[in-house]
Parts: sequence; C-alpha cells; structure tokens
Amino acid sequence: MTQFTFDMPSIIRTKRDGGVLSDDAIDWVIDAYTHGRVAEAQMSALLMAIFLRGMTNGEIARWTAAMVDSGERLDFSDLRRSDAPGKPLALVDKHSTGGVGDKITIPLVPVVMACGGAVPQAAGRGLGHTGGTLDKLESIPGFTAEISKAQIRQQLCELGAAIFAAGELAPADRKIYALRDVTATTESLPLIASSVMSKKIAEGTRALVLDTKVGSGAFLKTEAESRELARTMVELGTAHGVRTRALLTDMNTPLGRTVGNAVEVAESLEVLAGGGPDDVVELTLALAREMCDAAGLDGVDPAETLRDGTAMDRFRALVAAQGGDPDAALPLGAHSETVNAPRGGTMGDIDAMAVGLAVWRLGAGRSAPGEQVQFGAGMRIHRRPGEPVAAGEPLFTLYTDTPERLAGAVSELDGAWSVGDEPPARRPLIIDRITG
Ligand code: URA
Repeated sequence: MTQFTFDMPSIIRTKRDGGVLSDDAIDWVIDAYTHGRVAEAQMSALLMAIFLRGMTNGEIARWTAAMVDSGERLDFSDLRRSDAPGKPLALVDKHSTGGVGDKITIPLVPVVMACGGAVPQAAGRGLGHTGGTLDKLESIPGFTAEISKAQIRQQLCELGAAIFAAGELAPADRKIYALRDVTATTESLPLIASSVMSKKIAEGTRALVLDTKVGSGAFLKTEAESRELARTMVELGTAHGVRTRALLTDMNTPLGRTVGNAVEVAESLEVLAGGGPDDVVELTLALAREMCDAAGLDGVDPAETLRDGTAMDRFRALVAAQGGDPDAALPLGAHSETVNAPRGGTMGDIDAMAVGLAVWRLGAGRSAPGEQVQFGAGMRIHRRPGEPVAAGEPLFTLYTDTPERLAGAVSELDGAWSVGDEPPARRPLIIDRITG
C-alpha cells in the first residue's frame, strides 16, 4: 500500500493556488490539527485559502466526514422514553447558521420536548458578530453545558432534551471554530457547512432541521449563497443517515427586541410565557412544526404548548437538570446608554450586521480565543421596523459592564437605522423550505 506523507506548506499552497485537496490530504490535515501537530498559524493560512478559493462538493463531503471522525459519534437508538416504556425516542434537533438576536433554540427546544420529541442539542458559542446558544444559556446562574454522556442519555429519556457543549464530538470543529472566530474566516460556505454538519452528525440525532439565514446579519448575504449552503448541508446530512431539511429565513434585521446574552434569555422566557415578539414566535413555531414532522410526531400542536404552559414547564425542568436556577435574576450590564429618536415618524429597517457588531463590542462576544463573554452585555430595541416613533423617545438601549465599550458600540449603529415617513418594505420571515 502506498504511504502518503503530507506537509502543511504544500497543502496550503495547493489551496492558495486554487487546487483541489485530495481525500488523503484532507484526512491528514484534520487529524494532524486535532492532535496538535499543525501550528495555529498554518491552519489559519489554510482556512484563509479555503475562504478565498472555496472547496468542491467532494472536498466539503470529505472535510466534513474527517471532522465527524475526529471524535466519537453518539448513538441513542437504544434509548426508550421513560413515560412510554418500550417506545424509542423521537430524536430531532435544529441548528441555525448564525444570526443576530437569534435566540430561537431557547424557546424551541422546550416546545419540541412538550410535543414529545427528544432533542440532543450540541450547541455552540458565539461566532463573529453572531451570538451562541451556550453563551446565552450560561447567563442563567448555575447553568452548565458541560454534562456527561450519561447525563445526556438520562435527560433525553426522562425530560426530552439535553443542551450540551460539543466537547469530544467533532473536536476538530471545536478548534477550527475558535480559530475562524478570530481570523476573519467565518463567512465561508464550505467552513460553515462542515462545521454545522460535523457536530450534528456526531451528536446522534435522527432528524435535523436547519435554519439557514439570509441577509445582512447572516454569514452568507445573498439568497443564492444561502440556498446553496442549505442544499449542501441537507445533502451532507442525508449522506450520513440524518433526515435533514432546511428553512431559509430572513436575517436582514435582528430577531425580536433583544440582542446579547441574558437579555435574549429574558425575551425567550416571554415567548415561553405565551407572549414575546411576533417574529420570534413565528419562527419558533415554524421550526417546531418542521421538527415534529421530521421526527414523525403526529397530531401535536406546538402553539398549544406555549398557551398551556407545558413548554415553560419543560424549560424550567431542563435548566434545573443542568444546574441552573430558573428563578434567579438574570444579569444586566451595570452601564448603559440610550439612543433616542431624532424625530417622529416610522422606524425604518435596522441593519442586523451593525447591531451584531455593536453587541459584540459591548462584550457579548469574543475577540480572542477562550475569552470570557459578558453575560449582561446586550441591547434592547425599543422600536422595531414599521413601528411608530415619537421624537426624543428611546430607540435602543445598550448595556455593558465596561463603560469604555459604549462609545464604540454606539458608533457601530451610525447609519444602521432610520426614522422616516413611510414604513419599510415588508419581507417574509420564512423565505423557502428545502428538502432532500
Ligand atoms: N454554526 C456553526 O456551528 N458553525 C458555523 O460555522 C456557523 C454557525
């Protein structure tokens, strides 16, 4: 058998010059980087070359498979529901490609639990200007996402969900994700598709619904690119035996009225209590219906679980099982600044990217690997696009624990919103549905 030997300079050069990496080269890079045999500078250079040159579908499939193989693949097929002995779990999960104010996982998981699903959710931290579910949930005092495999299995049977740090699942993604976050290499179709799908294939779900974002606050801005991303991910999931489908959803404007860590948990609690912003409720329910359908859960009504409080009960049980205190006060940055309306009229579009960057500047995200985020950092959006505005009233309030961050964050908002005489053009929140 031929023995291949590889070296990083040749692999980087191949991709830098627009070549195609061989299967063996991809397997070697992922294994060598995961085990610390490739320098961070070399992997950064390769990620930038991939960012600039892209990858073929064959390269993406192999890169993803190598990332899955970099760790273990969980299997919950032996588990049975504790409330219906003998019945297998209806395993189903959701993942978003990243947005601003995208707190949807937090109300969605309990809704699906209340409908009889079992959600093994390997969740991520913030990436670039987008927030991460783990950073948000860890703002609940005591909550931990570092839970054992035994605990994940027990929660799936007894509660219907576990939300955990990917840990030993796709460890290559953990390292590459952290490196992309600080090397401006996040906005890459091959790197997003392989990152999302390696975790989701490894986490042991049987069905998966992807929320693929489109617009200024998404990593991929155009509908054509996002559509291609959704199709690529659906194909990757299907090839690995996971029933996968995707929604294409608008991310030109932030979701809901809050962006940040604890402030998004607070808004999610409003949704679970039967209220909350219309767009957050609409997307939560659309994704819940897709998840229930993909998992074969018939005759359930996700909206009813918000009305009758069963989703809220599930959320509280989930938080408590993972060490959190569902009754504890949520943190809010000690320093704040408010942006007021310069005139009366109607709120125009609010640019999601600018809001994401402002909140990142407030301390809700990271600028160095492993940095601790501020749980209390975030923004309240008092007037959403199309709402009436009175001159002088608050439009945005920004919160942080470090007051020197406020000026930079406020200046990110310059030119990112307007108050006018006419309401902005309405866009549908859910643009399309892509199935295998
Ligand atoms: N979510 C992920 O897990 N990875 C990405 O690259 C983007 C969103």
